[in-house]
Parts: sequence; C-alpha cells; structure tokens
Amino acid sequence: MTDTLPKIELHLHLEGAAPPAFIRGLAAEKKMDISGIFDARGNYSYIDFWHFLKVYEAATETLKTPGDYHRLTRAVLEESAASGVIYCETFLSPDFCGGRDVGAWQEYLHAIREAAEEAERQDGIVLRGIVTPIRHFGPEKAKETAICAAETAGDWIVGFGLAGDEKIGKPKDFAWAFDAAREAGLRLTCHAGEWGGPDSVRDAIRDLGVERIGHGVRAIEDLALVDELAEHGTVLEVCPGSNIALGLYPGWRQHPVGRLFDRGVKVTISTDDPPFFHTTMAREYERLADAFDWDAGVFATIARTSAEAAFCDPATKDTILKKLESAHA
Ligand code: HPA
Ligand code: ZN
Repeated sequence: MTDTLPKIELHLHLEGAAPPAFIRGLAAEKKMDISGIFDARGNYSYIDFWHFLKVYEAATETLKTPGDYHRLTRAVLEESAASGVIYCETFLSPDFCGGRDVGAWQEYLHAIREAAEEAERQDGIVLRGIVTPIRHFGPEKAKETAICAAETAGDWIVGFGLAGDEKIGKPKDFAWAFDAAREAGLRLTCHAGEWGGPDSVRDAIRDLGVERIGHGVRAIEDLALVDELAEHGTVLEVCPGSNIALGLYPGWRQHPVGRLFDRGVKVTISTDDPPFFHTTMAREYERLADAFDWDAGVFATIARTSAEAAFCDPATKDTILKKLESAHA
C-alpha cells in the first residue's frame, strides 16, 4: 500500500545517506583505509550516537572534491527516487564542503546542484539544500558557516539548521549564526528533543526562532509543550527508524510519533541517515503502517503537511502539492 505513495523528505544528511559501498569505492580510489568503520557484512558499524558521529565524520573524509559530492548526490537521489520520494531537502555542511571557505563552498554547491538537476531530469525528484553548522564544532565555526549560507541563499539553498551533538552547548550560543541566516532570507530548523529533553525544544524555538524542529520527539515527555507545538503549528521532522536504531525507543509501537500525530502536532517523516539506520523512506512508511495502522489517508495528510512545511519557493511547492493531489485523487 505504501510503496507507490509519493513521499516528501525534509530531514536528510547528505553524507549520512551515502551507501557504504559508495564510500568504500571512494576510499579505494584514494588509497585510504577506513575499514574500521564497517562491520563484517559491509554495513556502517557504531555503538551509540556519539560513536555514530565519529564514524560519520570518518566516512565523510573520503569526500574530498566537488566531483565526489556530485557523485554522492546522484547516488543518494537514485535511492530516494526508488522509495517514491518526489521532493527532498538535504542538510549540507560547508565544514565538509570546502572547510567553510566561501569560494570553495560555492564550487561544491555548484557540483551538488548540477547533480540534482540531472536527477530531476531523470527521475523527476526535486532537491533543495539546508546549510547546517555542526554543533560540536562550536559557535565560532557556525558563524563562518552562516556566512557561507548567507552568500548562497536563494532559490536552492532555502534553509539553515544545526546538526551534530545536541548535548554540547545551548541553542542561544548559535543565535548570531541563526540571525545572519534569517536576515539572508533563510528559513530555520534545529535538531532538538532527540538527545535533549522537552526544554531543548523550548530553547530552540525561543532562542533561535525556528519554525521546524529536527526530531523533537521528546516533546512527548511534556504534554503542555506538545499542545503548544500543535497550537503554533511547529513542524517536527520525525525520523522514527533513526530513533529506534539509536536506542531512543525500543520499537516502532513505542515510538511517540503516533501520539504526537493524534494530538494534532504537524508531523513529517524522514530517514536522517538511511544506510546507517538500515532504512529507506519506503521502509519507514511500511513500518509506520504496521505499527499504527496508518492508512493511505494518514500518509496523504503527512505528505501534505510536509509539502506545506517545505522551505522551497511557492511555485515549487505548488507543483509538489499538485503531484500529491493527483496521486491521492
Ligand atoms: N543527528 C545529528 N547530527 C548529525 C546526524 C544526525 O542524525 N547526522 C549527521 N550529523
Ligand atoms: Zn538529523
């Protein structure tokens, strides 16, 4: 039932979506030994979220040129299109793409956009970018990242976020970067309420003025906050498979996404770093249908919520909304 549904993904880390075989291929070409980040079956191997971040950064070491990011973008979008994704927003970090140098970042971005245009011509999938500093790299680097974001803000770089270790620092440490991004016309999101509790969600909304929250699922521990999110229309980028793979919840039925949806929160569904978490958008939909008895009507609501929450321009949004309407007609 869920296979053929058109899907919208708003929370995807580009490097985190790299198939392990793709990263192994790049490592072999560059004569790098990164065998330690894979298990015997060739999957990424890590023991917890913090180790995951290290493995992620080690895999990213193999991506050294704009050409590598061109190939990565094609590989990722091929997988997404195969899952039925018609529109996707991906997190991009100038830290990994040119070391936060504006000129180098522009070259990486050019290569990524070129790959996205090729994928759109081939499969109809539309991609847009959200620039994200890495929280554990600190607020000073985030300022440089915000300058890269502001310099390239427009019809393709549409948002600004914050990834990395949620336990380090506070959202307000990044207020300068978020203010600069907002002034450049970028829409805002921030990882919170995954490793931090409900207060981390409150802090991100109050101190950074974000309209979407990456994850945000631990809002469920404070029902007054859940009701505030519902009332204000704050959108959650929920990645259930990621939360389960990282041990935040023991299984799909225990995941709070069903309760958040039932209580009126604007819920969207994404994969985060799909091969790391042994998932795809098609698999997320399947598991959710099984766990919560969600039917095509619920998935249509979620897809519509996602399209409305997308950071792209109104014309692009209109096109994806029309695609959803014709699929559900
Ligand atoms: N969460 C936070 N930071 C990240 C992630 C993630 O899943 N992937 C890459 N950076
Ligand atoms: Zn994430």
